[in-house]
Amino acid sequence: MKLWGGRFTKPTNQLVDDYTASIKFDKKLAAYDIQGSQAHVKMLKKCGIIPEDEADLIADGLQAVAAKIETDQVALHEAHEDIHMNVEHLLTAEIGPVGGKLHTGRSRNDQVALDMRLYLRDVVVELVQLLTDVQHALYKQAEQNMDTILPGYTHLQRAQPVSFAHHMLAYVFMFQRDAERLMDSWKRINQMPLGAGALAGTTFPIDREFVANALHFDGICANSLDAVSDRDFVVEFLADASMIAMHLSRLCEEMVQWSSAEFNFIELDDAFSTGSSMMPQKKNPDVAELVRGKTGRVYGNLTGMLTMLKGLPLAYNKDMQEDKEGMFDTAETLRGALALFAPMIETMQVNREVMYRAVKQDYSNATDLADYLTDKGLTFRESHEVVGEIVLQCINKNKYLLDLSLNEFQHFSEVIEADIFDALKPEAVVDARKASGGTATQSVREQLQKTAALLKEN
Ligand code: ARG
Repeated sequence: MKLWGGRFTKPTNQLVDDYTASIKFDKKLAAYDIQGSQAHVKMLKKCGIIPEDEADLIADGLQAVAAKIETDQVALHEAHEDIHMNVEHLLTAEIGPVGGKLHTGRSRNDQVALDMRLYLRDVVVELVQLLTDVQHALYKQAEQNMDTILPGYTHLQRAQPVSFAHHMLAYVFMFQRDAERLMDSWKRINQMPLGAGALAGTTFPIDREFVANALHFDGICANSLDAVSDRDFVVEFLADASMIAMHLSRLCEEMVQWSSAEFNFIELDDAFSTGSSMMPQKKNPDVAELVRGKTGRVYGNLTGMLTMLKGLPLAYNKDMQEDKEGMFDTAETLRGALALFAPMIETMQVNREVMYRAVKQDYSNATDLADYLTDKGLTFRESHEVVGEIVLQCINKNKYLLDLSLNEFQHFSEVIEADIFDALKPEAVVDARKASGGTATQSVREQLQKTAALLKEN
């Protein structure tokens, strides 16, 4: 018998039950659903809407149902459609018809909005923690690689050398913005929708603030139509998650490149790599690739959610039942990726010598030669032209800038003196970028301090 069966003269077609039921996935909300119901029944009792003894019976019953669901002692049925009606059925089975009083002054529409908010609160807290762990791993790599120098790239062409610490810290700042975005979304997630009823509010003398306090919400949703129709907080979460996935994916791409034989800048720990079923020599960066690949589904969940919502009139529409699977999937996808990332980064071996050799075998100190000439009085345009010619000749003669003799340098410009050789060394080139935010040791040290302070606050 359906909870809403009164108005109907025949049972629903089995196909309808199969198609419309959400219990397969919304059972994940069971604990939150019951937590919300506990606060609701406490309020019904306090406001004198149902007798105290019955409220207590319901509260005990809910607790018993929660324990049974958690330990798989009860079956959840598709015939009862979703988690809300399944719980109500179980409650009535537990304590009898008085269980039917729980839903007084409430609808599944405000109930499901509440459950989603309770669920996301936990997810946000957990993801911020996991992000912080990843930041710590990157921070440690930065600390250990203050004087590791590698080529910095633009267009994936060698551009200017940077310190590996600087590179790691770039990601720490990205993930910091991600953590801050999640923390900021808290104030929009943490508004309490119960009391909106199906859409218009309720005739019962309820106390919404009481429920909000009991569940540690910052406030109540101010408009009942908005309260049951609003999934902005889910969209926002999916957007924040997409940004995290994008950042992870960019780092993944670098890890994949860096661990190739062509780069050989890092080696991932055996525990975080996989092999090939055919080629015995292979060691593949599967985790990084898979995280990069899963970014697609995270974006897909955001796009799906926005598209599902775009044409919906107020207030609740069944379309909105589609809000859950993508949200769960994104939360689980990120949870898995972030949990792996911290140890994978921490155990990653950095091939300093290879990185250094790469820097010595390129023209990434050309800007510094131009800056040198500019210091000596040429305009930057003139310097750029001269250095371009020097580089061209070096390429033709299969040399690097530091292979030139002072004579050869002076052939291009008389202002060049012997101090050029020190100025063009990778260490000097990196350390010359002292302006704040640059890759010089001093600036990287400041960044380390900044990030340490930020991480403490997260
Ligand atoms: N299972 C539904 C959902 O997740 C709960 C709300 C249903 N409300 C309704 N009036 N059919 O959206």
